Amino acid sequence: MALKITVIGTGYLGATHAAAMAELGFEVLGLDVVPEKIETLSRGEVPMYEPGLEELLRKHVAGLEGSTGRLRFTTSWQEVADFGDVHFVCVNTPQKHGEYACDMSYVESAFSSLAPLLRRPALVVGKSTVPVGSAARLARLLTGLAPAGEDVELAWNPEFLREGFAVEDTLHPDRIVVGVGGERAEKLLREVYATPIGEGSPFVVADYPTAELVKTAANSFLATKISFINAMAEVCEAADGDVVKLAEAIGHDERIGKKFLRAGVGFGGGCLPKDIRAFMARAGELGADQALTFLREVDSINMRRRAHMVELARESVGGSFLGQRVAVLGATFKPDSDDVRDSPALNVAGQIHLQGGQVTVYDPKGMDNARRLFPTLAYAPSALEACRGAHVVLHLTEWAEFRQLDPVAIADVVVEPRLLDGRNALDPAVWRAAGWTFRAMGRPQA
Ligand code: UGA
Repeated sequence: MALKITVIGTGYLGATHAAAMAELGFEVLGLDVVPEKIETLSRGEVPMYEPGLEELLRKHVAGLEGSTGRLRFTTSWQEVADFGDVHFVCVNTPQKHGEYACDMSYVESAFSSLAPLLRRPALVVGKSTVPVGSAARLARLLTGLAPAGEDVELAWNPEFLREGFAVEDTLHPDRIVVGVGGERAEKLLREVYATPIGEGSPFVVADYPTAELVKTAANSFLATKISFINAMAEVCEAADGDVVKLAEAIGHDERIGKKFLRAGVGFGGGCLPKDIRAFMARAGELGADQALTFLREVDSINMRRRAHMVELARESVGGSFLGQRVAVLGATFKPDSDDVRDSPALNVAGQIHLQGGQVTVYDPKGMDNARRLFPTLAYAPSALEACRGAHVVLHLTEWAEFRQLDPVAIADVVVEPRLLDGRNALDPAVWRAAGWTFRAMGRPQA
């Protein structure tokens, strides 16, 4: 009989995972402790912007016209415990307030709600990003609390999906990593992922600590790569070099590769910044803090980019933001997402606002979330309207829409045609030809 799957926590990760599991042919039950989320998802609506996710959800949510009916949602732990052969825990682990460590309270609460209700054999699979050592501890907790005892096993299966590509990354992962304590868990997970394994996705079997570390190591490497190129941007600015050309040239070396070498205002979002900090905190607890001191530098290069963008903007308007109107194009931490968590764009906008600038923001999908986080900024319904009357325009999230903008039309509505490209995504030649003073991070001034 086909395995029955539950997904606990229906944020980016959980909602995508649940829909993907239904797409792979399983009966799926998703749980969240927030009833409004369950109501939204049960109507086939996605509470965030993620390309392709709503279509996938509608295809499978029970009760919707033409759906397979394989996907349902609930708020009942009992229903989940009775239903599932495999339970995926997909709750988030945000950074703790005032600390580097991550907040494990959602993970703890998921395990302690589920475990006492598990009366039949089950595999619980953690997907959340956790400090190394958590899985071993949670495995003991599970067998201790579950009435089915040793028949309940734990596996750790980190997730590598990128926002904006969540559906694609979940259905066709570039690798599947599982940390297991025994052969039964591995066998069940091979069954769950039979389709992507059949398509050639590598299946890496490890122990718990290695599987947990794979996730934080991968995000730390990506963060390091971005901060490396941003450090090169700082040197390029000092030496009048061009970081875009430099990245292209070193990227031809296959050992280095072209990806994740886009210099600019740096990385943000709900993952890379908090993951490197939580990793440092955990290494400290383990007595291995020296191994990760370089991540402090990675973090500080990254945060410096935001401050540098504010300085470039202030310099461009003559040394003070007072009485100056600043247009900010982009609010999300990256394009094709409505996520504004730790967004460099909004961070820059907020700093300029605090220094007395009149900031107007436009973003194709992130306006509602941005307004909620920064209600004191002004918001415009289009890029053109955001630029109207501006003394300087900042391009801070590289949405495709901004590359289609007509520099001549925008020049007509601004007070001064000055543009700062914080993502190195616009073509300087085109903007300069239209009369703009164009400056990008880590590139020659003209
Ligand atoms: C990241 C990882 O890429 C995923 O593999 C991982 O699963 C996910 O975190 C997670 O831990 O859940 P994501 O946060 O969606 O995914 O975003 P990325 O595509 O990694 O971008 C992160 C930030 O780096 C963005 O602000 C982006 O603008 C910035 N970035 C990226 C650069 O500044 N330069 C680059 O060259 C690439």
